[in-house]
Amino acid sequence: MKITVIGAGNVGATCAESIVRMELANELVLLDIREGFAEGKAMDMNQTASLHGFHTKVRGVTNDYKATAGSEVIVITSGLPRKPGMTREELIGTNAGIVKSVVAQSLEVSPEAVVVIISNPMDTMTYLAVKGSGLPKNRIIGMGGILDSSRFKYYLSEALNCPVSDLQASVIGGHGDTTMIPLTRLASYQSTPVSNYLSAEELDQVKSSTMVGGATLTGLIGTSAWYAPGASGAALVASIVNDQKRIFPCCVYLDGEYGQHDICLGVPVTIGKNGWEKIIDYNLNESENAAFEKSANAVRAMNSVLADL
Ligand code: 2OP
Repeated sequence: MKITVIGAGNVGATCAESIVRMELANELVLLDIREGFAEGKAMDMNQTASLHGFHTKVRGVTNDYKATAGSEVIVITSGLPRKPGMTREELIGTNAGIVKSVVAQSLEVSPEAVVVIISNPMDTMTYLAVKGSGLPKNRIIGMGGILDSSRFKYYLSEALNCPVSDLQASVIGGHGDTTMIPLTRLASYQSTPVSNYLSAEELDQVKSSTMVGGATLTGLIGTSAWYAPGASGAALVASIVNDQKRIFPCCVYLDGEYGQHDICLGVPVTIGKNGWEKIIDYNLNESENAAFEKSANAVRAMNSVLADL
């Protein structure tokens, strides 16, 4: 098993580290455009092998796509991260060109790979990858909903004073501060609705903290977060390479599902060796459907910018 992570910045390197610590591959290639950068990160990671007890070999390369040939999964984290006060959407002009070229160069040497997109604005970058690559839609997965759901569970666990492992909660829709939809109605604490324990006001607070979860971290750290984004990418890769069929909210190409066409948006899907395999229907109620429609309209407006670039 060979896995490639493109972009050795904070998110890419953390995702790579999580993947090697889980021993999901014999070889992990880390590629970056900065001379020597991925090589350095790879060497540093390899020097933890005896400490963490993993056997995956990490190989860092500078823009050498040949080294990534034959990868079964390619994780794309390239592009600029957010600065404080910036929305994910403001990155589109710079990141679209980068993601387009990275997807094309990666697939040229790994035509059978499943592609995971983490670069922002993620929903539009995933759409760009689907449209530009010609790959079957199931082999392109945008990672946003797993991260947003992990933040949702974090804020719920703080409000409930309970372990996150006792919670089930999903965020669907876009991966944007105003487009994501934390599904409070369906969130549960050991099979009981969280609304049994939290007031409507408390749930609203959890929901809004979740929606600005990334921006809160950007404000504190000065750049985009990386631990949870990297770990979320690795959880997705684990379900692919181990064919786990886990259900995660992921950004996938919709062809009528959830009432949407020709758009990539976050919905619950099963993830296995072929990429995303099945879309799960959450039977949204009227207000959730309206929120999904609103989210789709915002992402569609963002996608239309691609035509002018
Ligand atoms: C975040 O939400 C990087 O989009 C990512 O932190």
